[in-house]
Amino acid sequence: MLSKKTVVLGVTGSIAAYKAVDLASKLTQEGATVEVAMTPAATEFVSPLTFRAITGRPVVTDMFDSDVEFSIEHVALAERADVVVVAPATADIIARMAAGMADDTVCCTVLATKAPVIVAPAMHAGMYQNAVTQDNIRRLKARGFHIAGPAHGRLASGGVGPGRFVEVEELLAAIRQVLGKSVGLAGRAVLVTAGGTQEPIDPVRFVGNHSSGKMGYAIAEAARDRGATVTLVAAPNSLPDPAGVKVVRVGRAVEMREAVLKAAVGKDALTMAAAVADYQPKVVSESKMKKGAMSLNLELVRTPDILAEVKGIPIKVGFAAESENLLVNARAKLKQKDLDLIVANDITLPGSGFGSDNDRVSLIDRRGKVEDLPLMSKREVAEKVLDRVETFLKQMRTPSRKRIG
Ligand code: CTP
Repeated sequence: MLSKKTVVLGVTGSIAAYKAVDLASKLTQEGATVEVAMTPAATEFVSPLTFRAITGRPVVTDMFDSDVEFSIEHVALAERADVVVVAPATADIIARMAAGMADDTVCCTVLATKAPVIVAPAMHAGMYQNAVTQDNIRRLKARGFHIAGPAHGRLASGGVGPGRFVEVEELLAAIRQVLGKSVGLAGRAVLVTAGGTQEPIDPVRFVGNHSSGKMGYAIAEAARDRGATVTLVAAPNSLPDPAGVKVVRVGRAVEMREAVLKAAVGKDALTMAAAVADYQPKVVSESKMKKGAMSLNLELVRTPDILAEVKGIPIKVGFAAESENLLVNARAKLKQKDLDLIVANDITLPGSGFGSDNDRVSLIDRRGKVEDLPLMSKREVAEKVLDRVETFLKQMRTPSRKRIG
């Protein structure tokens, strides 16, 4: 989503300026055109040449450099920007932006732009907590600026407190989210599940499955990038929490049921990518079971069918991982769980399914229409699924839409 976007990155004089290099690099890798403007103080921490090498673009540092002709360039940058990101933002630049000053390349660009502005504060905790800085941040917020961070943690001064530059991944998420405001799921709330539930046998063992969680995480990130507010109910997996997404970690199917029913209230859509165990041990041993006889029978009882149980959510999307009779089984689940869409996945296909980064799936809707998709990345599958969710949500606004099933 960042390709063809112009991000103007305003770097100011904080030790965290080196982290802006990483940000510029990641934005560039994602296809954005990154135009960097630096205050004179920022150039004391990182050389403009570093940003130039990373972005492949000239870096604007001096208002009066006749070679760059910034007096024209800053207006051009301000106009070309799809988003302006001031990162790191010192207490000084925050004060000057709040006052509408235009005496360096960064605040000049901010003053001139009509694009959304994201500010990532980084400073000493005392400066951040000072009533003047807090007041300036409030003023910026009131004018529609987005404030990312700061984080709480170890500061360059040696102390610990608020004022630490937000993690680059979080800032990237904020940028995607701000840019995503113009796309399909802005203002929507989406609930996603991921991972494979683990049903305990005793304190050390469980009944589980091979789900990696990658599909659900890809959907959560894609929905976030389309501007949705996303809640992810995650069964155990080894993936890090996606930035900008509310993550609720659960273990067992019954815990997932509770979390999903609670989080579903007020959501526009549920996409249930989790591999929920169908059975759980009838009795969970409180102490570690010792080995004994040559054979052991484990009695299992059914878990709740979460997707079938969730009612009242406008759009429900399910997944069907099948090893045979793909379409017949998927259609039966679509009907039985009252779904708008089911993503049918033949797990026997090479390079597709559990643990893989790719999937070859078919999408089946309420009308029974089947779309066979080629092998693609899980993120691409996620985009296809969300295209459908967007269409369904748009159709719901037109009263003629009738449920078929
Ligand atoms: N699902 C659920 N609760 C369960 C089992 C499954 O919510 N107890 C959801 C899954 O997240 C998925 C869909 O239902 O979106 C289909 O899951 P799947 O395991 O393929 O089907 P089951 O209904 O469990 O049927 P079966 O195991 O017999 O294929």
